[in-house]
This record gives sequence, structure tokens and C-alpha cells, in this order.
Amino acid sequence: MSDRPDDRVVIFDTTLRDGEQSPGCSMNTDEKLRVAEALCDLGVDVIEAGFPIASPGDFDAVSQIAERFGDRATICGLARCRDGDIDAAINAVAKGERGRVHVFLATSAIHREHKLRMSTEQIVERAVASVQRAKEKVDDVEFSPEDAYRTERDFLCEVVEKAIDAGATTVNIPDTVGYATPQQYFDVIKMLKESVPNIDRAIISTHCHDDLGLAAANTLAGLEAGARQVECTINGIGERAGNAALEEIVMALKTRQDHFGLTTGINTRKLSPTSRLVGSVTGQGVPRNKAVVGRNAFAHASGIHQDGMLKNPATYEIMKPEDVGFIGTDLVLGKHSGRAAVKARLTELGYTPNDETFTEVFDRFIDLADRKKEVFDADLAALMEAKLSGAGLANRERWSIKSLHTSSGTTGVPTATLELIEAPAAGSPDGDGEPTIHRDAAIGDGPIDACFNALERIIGIEARLEDFVVKSVTRGKDALGQVDVRLYAGGRDRHGRGVSTDIIEAGARAFLQALNRADADRQA
Ligand code: KIV
Ligand code: ZN
Repeated sequence: MSDRPDDRVVIFDTTLRDGEQSPGCSMNTDEKLRVAEALCDLGVDVIEAGFPIASPGDFDAVSQIAERFGDRATICGLARCRDGDIDAAINAVAKGERGRVHVFLATSAIHREHKLRMSTEQIVERAVASVQRAKEKVDDVEFSPEDAYRTERDFLCEVVEKAIDAGATTVNIPDTVGYATPQQYFDVIKMLKESVPNIDRAIISTHCHDDLGLAAANTLAGLEAGARQVECTINGIGERAGNAALEEIVMALKTRQDHFGLTTGINTRKLSPTSRLVGSVTGQGVPRNKAVVGRNAFAHASGIHQDGMLKNPATYEIMKPEDVGFIGTDLVLGKHSGRAAVKARLTELGYTPNDETFTEVFDRFIDLADRKKEVFDADLAALMEAKLSGAGLANRERWSIKSLHTSSGTTGVPTATLELIEAPAAGSPDGDGEPTIHRDAAIGDGPIDACFNALERIIGIEARLEDFVVKSVTRGKDALGQVDVRLYAGGRDRHGRGVSTDIIEAGARAFLQALNRADADRQA
């Protein structure tokens, strides 16, 4: 059936499908393409690129990803067991060298009775017909009995067996609501291996949700029971509490090779850069205490730990920071560093900016080096990511800040005065014309609110602020501040990121980036 060695685990990444379904994580096509490229560089085997029937935008994203990256990874499209869904998934992955169609249908009693109102016979019939329909056009077909873990065991075995007979080459066993414990998930996979007569004709896959914080543990238990594909997402993003985190599973397998005896094709040095990219593209960031890729993952604060680390890093460190591409607080370059040195450092940190992006990041680096005593790797990465966070905009960032002045205090009304540069719209008759300068002033509850009001007035878009998170990128009173905002504008959630040593400026940049997204849609 497969020429893969039995110890090789297939990494199926669903950041762009299940991950994108998580609140506030939606991505546009350009952003999805950037994430897909990073996933290829990381070495994932299968990229679930989206749900093609969901919207023309989803179809287009899956199809572009298949065309651009279908020779580097298998590109997969999701489909319900409906003809229209299946045909859309087939067409969307068709341009890639290696395409997969993933069909799913709920099998548990609660879903059958309350959601689908279908009998077990109807479920089997629909699942078989759907796998067969996909198989007529695509060799690589995956079937998922949704809510498999809560499905009666006999019925689960029957559906899995019939799906394999119909042509499924991967059978995925979702713990859709994150209900199983590791032992229970192990048992269900082992039971399928022992009871389904044709199980050797397919790869068993895990798909664990994190509602009880057990997704990674359940996934690893599934592997121990014989599964050889894992479905996971970068940073564990996904429906509700998320999916199993790719970086946790991969590093558990690598660090505890002695125990699992399994391998993956992942270049683990790309884990941190990929995690930061997904954090910035989705606007969700990476939680400080996130296993493997969080900022604290290799920080040793207590004296006892620091002492042990100096004597021998193995006292408190089970993985080497460089093995996951971790960016620490190493002193980077100074204000006299040339372009070549800064570019080389960015490359070492895992970034490959184009000329335009690099010029902007370099200018901001020089400005930062003027304002700040020490500039760290993490500062340089933050400047780069703030730029990348807006780089998915179809019309680039049409609006940018020329100058910003605020006044506030314990008395008087907080005021902001802003000058914005409006770039000529691409493709417009004056597309090569001069940029226009707009000036306005506004008052607010505080200087940041006043900036936001002025930005809304100049650009002509009203926004409802949903979330505003500020954090320092490194230590020290002159540290770079990073602001992530989430706002609702033009009928959608938008995110934006800004960095500056001045948090008012960082807030204004973040708000402006999110408004630029709304403006891009307004122009389209
Ligand atoms: O959680 C789930 O059951 C899913 C299926 C579509 C595989 O995401
Ligand atoms: Zn899921």
C-alpha cells in the first residue's frame, strides 16, 4: 500500500482549515499563500489548505496553493459528503501534482439523531458513495467519521471498513469535541487496528481537539497504538480550544525518540519562525508560556535554575533552543550596521524579505537603533513581523503615517494630530502619481483613542475596537512595545500589529494596519 517505513509519521497540517476556523484567525489568500510556503519549508507532508465549497475565496486559495506548492507537499481540500462539496474539492486541488480530497460525515449517535437526522444505514451509504465519487478523480482520498471517538465501536468499525473498501487510503479518527483521555484514544485506535479486516490498506490518522488540554497527549497515544498520520496546527490554533499543536508533537517525537521510535520529515529549526509567522498573520501572537515556541520556553528565571544551566544546560533544558529556531535576546547589530549585515541577520533568523520589505524594515531598524541603547534579535524580528503582518494586503498599505502628535495629561482633553500619506491606488489612472497628504485632529478618552478617532476620520471607515494587547518585545524601559489590535470594520474582524518604542505610535500603527485591511476590501 505504501512504501513509507513503518516508523515515519505523516504530518498533516490543518492550520489553513481547522486553524482558520478559530475565532479571529481568518486569513486572506495572500496570507494563506505565505503560510503555505512556510509549511513547505518546514517539511510538512500534507497541507489541508481549506474548505473549497465554503466560498469562492476559499476555493481560490486552495487552488492557488495547489498550483504553487503542489509539488512540495500534498495539498488537501475538505468536503462534506455532498456532491457539490466533493466536486469543488476535486477541482480546487487539481492544479497540484499531489492532491487529496478529505471527505467527512458525522457518525456518533448524537450527531446522527440531532444534526443529520440520518440512520446508520444512510450514513454508511452516503459515506461510501462520497468516497467513491472522490476516488473517480483523485487517487488520494481521506475519510473522517466526524465525532468518531463518541461513535459506537461496532458502527465505527463498519464505517471505517466500508470507507476503505470504497477507496479511502487514509482514515482519520477525530476526537471532534476533545472528550477522550489518552488511554481511551489509544484503545480506540488499537481496537480499529485489531478489528477492521482491511485496515492495513489505509493509514490511520489522529485528529484531536484540545477542549480538555489533552490534544497532544491523545495524538501521541494514537501514534503508540499504531496511527501513522497526525492532524495538527501551528500553535495549536483551531475550533474552540484548538487542535493538537504541530510543534509539540514533533518535538515530543524528536526529544523522546528513545520512547516512541518514530520520525517525521520536519526541519525543527523552522518551528519557531513558522510559529511566529502564524501568530502574526492571524494577529493572535504566540502565548508566552506556549510549549516549544513560547517566549518563556527557554527562559530560566530562578537563581537555582540559572546556576544549574551555567554548570550544565542539560540540568534544566530537554531541548536545545537552536533546534527549534528559537530567537533569544542576543544583542544584534548597532546603528552603524550596514544593510548587508542586517539582511544576513534576518536570514539567520529565518526571514527572506523582498527588496521593498527589507528597505522599510532597515529604515525602521536604523530609527530604532537611534532611539534605543541595545537592539536585540527579538526587536529585529518584531519589526520584520509587523511589516509582514500587513504584507498580505492586496493594495499594500495604502495609508501610512507621516507624523503623529498627541497631547494628554491629568487635565485637559486628550488630542491627536495626524498626517497620513495616501499612496496612489494601484491600477488607477494616477497609479504612478504623487502620494496625497491628509491632515486631521481629533479628541478622545486618551491619546490612543484620539489617534484612532483621527485615523477613522481621515480614512473614512468606522471601526469597533474588540481587543487591544500591548507587550514589550524585550527588557528595559526603552524596550520596543508591540501592539496587536482586533477590530470590527467593513463587516469583518480585522487585525493589525504595530511596533515602536512609543506605545501610542505602536497603537496607531496597529490600528492603521487593520483599517488598511478594511480599506483594501472597500477598494476591491
Ligand atoms: O474535528 C473534526 O471532526 C474535523 C473534521 C472535519 C475532520 O475537523
Ligand atoms: Zn477538527
